[in-house]
Amino acid sequence: MARVLITGASSGIGHALTLAYQARGEQVIACGRNAEKLAALGELANVDTLQFDVTDKSQVLATVAQMPSLDVVILNAGDCEYIDDVMHFDSTLFERVIKTNLISIGYCLEAWASKLSAGGQLVFVSSSAQFLPFPRAQAYGASKAGLSYLAKVMQIELQQHAIGVSLVHPGFVATPLTDKNTFDMPFKVTAQQAAQHIIDGVEKRQSEIAFPGGFIFILKLLKALPLSWWRAIALRMQS
Ligand SMILES: NC(=O)c1ccc[n+]([C@@H]2O[C@H](COP(=O)([O-])OP(=O)(O)OC[C@H]3O[C@@H](n4cnc5c(N)ncnc54)[C@H](OP(=O)(O)O)[C@@H]3O)[C@@H](O)[C@H]2O)c1
Repeated sequence: MARVLITGASSGIGHALTLAYQARGEQVIACGRNAEKLAALGELANVDTLQFDVTDKSQVLATVAQMPSLDVVILNAGDCEYIDDVMHFDSTLFERVIKTNLISIGYCLEAWASKLSAGGQLVFVSSSAQFLPFPRAQAYGASKAGLSYLAKVMQIELQQHAIGVSLVHPGFVATPLTDKNTFDMPFKVTAQQAAQHIIDGVEKRQSEIAFPGGFIFILKLLKALPLSWWRAIALRMQS
């Protein structure tokens, strides 16, 4: 039985991951803020819960003392907010998103990197949004681009400790996070499908877990083009 810690377990992809790992008989430590949703998860066999805010360093570090050794750590908690008016740039929103999606990861690494057992796997849930600059995504895209960079450095550094690192680049997934979006979301998958992609990739110790394939292929193709071509496409998307 592997011990799997998941942040953002109270909703969306993290919730689906928690249920899927639990169903496989793994020991899950489900983390989140929402007490009610965590209590429901805590009713399940083999699921322990931890309630804390990942942006509060003292709360994250307070989990260390009771933390057992871990086989898989999935850093999945995150949020998405858009900059709607670039001429009135909302630096508070910018700071909030970067803190939730990137700075918090540093707190989690300080707390739990040394708890990962040799042969374990560290998983960063970034986003396919980091492949290209999307309108209104200054905060979200920058946070996820930073996270992907961080994960790639960890892939190099953790090799000597026999710890694998998987970097997850999901396309659109139907969750409360994307329910807010009013634009078209091509190739959207369910949270359960997303969780299955991640679990399969972690099991194979894949360095990149990107899905769905068709969507990722198109994004990587667009990324290979001159940036000026992408700017022209993005401007047309905006109008
Ligand atoms: N959905 C997509 O299309 C998509 C695509 C690419 C990448 N992603 C990434 O996948 C991850 C999960 O997203 P999702 O779609 O499943 O979103 P979601 O349904 O909104 O779930 C977000 C989870 O993160 C937790 N969280 C957020 N801020 C937190 C904080 N400050 N402290 C502790 N927990 C916090 C939430 O906990 P509480 O509810 O308990 O506060 C919730 O469990 C995110 O990193 C997101 O960027 C999602």
